[in-house]
Amino acid sequence: MSTVSLLSEIADVGRDQRRGGYSRHVFDAAEGELRAWFVEQAQRRGLDVETDRNGNLWGWWGTPGPKALVTGSHLDSVPGGGAFDGPLGVASALAAVETLRAQGFQPAKPLAVVVFAEEEGGRFGMPCLGSRLLTGSFDADRARALRDPDGVTLAQAAARAGLDPRRLGRDDVALSRIGTFLELHVEQGRGLIDLGSPVAVGSTVIAHGRWRFSFRGQGNHAGATLMTDRHDPMLPAASLVAAARRIASGVAGARATVGRIVPRPGGTNVIASAVDVWLDARVPGDEHTRALVEEITAAARHAAAEEGCEVTVTEESYSGAMAFDPGLTATMSGVLGAPPRLATGAGHDAAILAEHVPAGMLYVRNPAGISHAPEEFAEDGDVEQGTEALANVLKALSK
Ligand code: HGY
Ligand code: MN
Ligand code: MN
Repeated sequence: MSTVSLLSEIADVGRDQRRGGYSRHVFDAAEGELRAWFVEQAQRRGLDVETDRNGNLWGWWGTPGPKALVTGSHLDSVPGGGAFDGPLGVASALAAVETLRAQGFQPAKPLAVVVFAEEEGGRFGMPCLGSRLLTGSFDADRARALRDPDGVTLAQAAARAGLDPRRLGRDDVALSRIGTFLELHVEQGRGLIDLGSPVAVGSTVIAHGRWRFSFRGQGNHAGATLMTDRHDPMLPAASLVAAARRIASGVAGARATVGRIVPRPGGTNVIASAVDVWLDARVPGDEHTRALVEEITAAARHAAAEEGCEVTVTEESYSGAMAFDPGLTATMSGVLGAPPRLATGAGHDAAILAEHVPAGMLYVRNPAGISHAPEEFAEDGDVEQGTEALANVLKALSK
């Protein structure tokens, strides 16, 4: 079955009628359907599937063993996300295994297809949650206490999904099995359009993080409160949004985004008592990212003081700038006839694993140049070329 056909099988899972696109979040109903789909498809291809202590899925070709060649991605989405971000890497990995099996290929070392849990952080707010827990790069107690917008903790959600929340955390056995990790992913910007190539080899990921700004003021009546008598946290919140755009526009390569604002209580005729605002900031270079956030934070603090409001700032996640394994990317490049190298502003599980094992990425062209939105797209021909490239690299690395 081709990658395109595999993707068409899940095309209706987790459609978000209100936002458009897909909303598939860890341990929710839609993601549960995707897990069942993966298990069935993996088993059909002769893979033995297991779920690790952190909810990541592993389809093994051969007994799980040290120095395995592992490929895969994630199945969860951002709210209202596209069809390819994550699932393309998982479906391509399954199709690549099928291709290699059909050729009668026998890998010289164990090979696994992995699905990492909650890469987007769409439910519990921590990106790459499954791979961070696996590698121990996120504290398990902090993870257990993470709450989704309905107040459900990760521990509760994990238990409902059949995991033992007490076992969440670094998994030395699973980590020791990984020799090399390779992730295929849809390109999420214009990179491959401008390079005129269907696939590229990943080079670097820029530094990126998430900060929560909690503004507190005085809730009050929208009609009975004079403008001079207000301490409205919506004002510094709005200043933060404008400051992020203004300041980032002046820094080479910087990206700063506010995509989520939550006022409390959130009534039309109510002056908010508090407003939570999340900033996503990314710059090539760790020191530049920190400097950008400091400048935006200073503007937010000034605006809060002017309105007689308080503000607390919390760093919720941070991933430093990274480069994929040079030896692995050189091998990939050699196998594929030296396609373009592509730096990205998007974070990936491969970048988390890269701190522990040689990791690399393959990108597939997205003619829309749009991602994290329903318009995200990849042509069938490019999808199949991506799968063929992945199969060829897996074959070369499995010898
Ligand atoms: O946000 C990101 O960069 C990725 O899509 N998780
Ligand atoms: Mn994404
Ligand atoms: Mn992704």
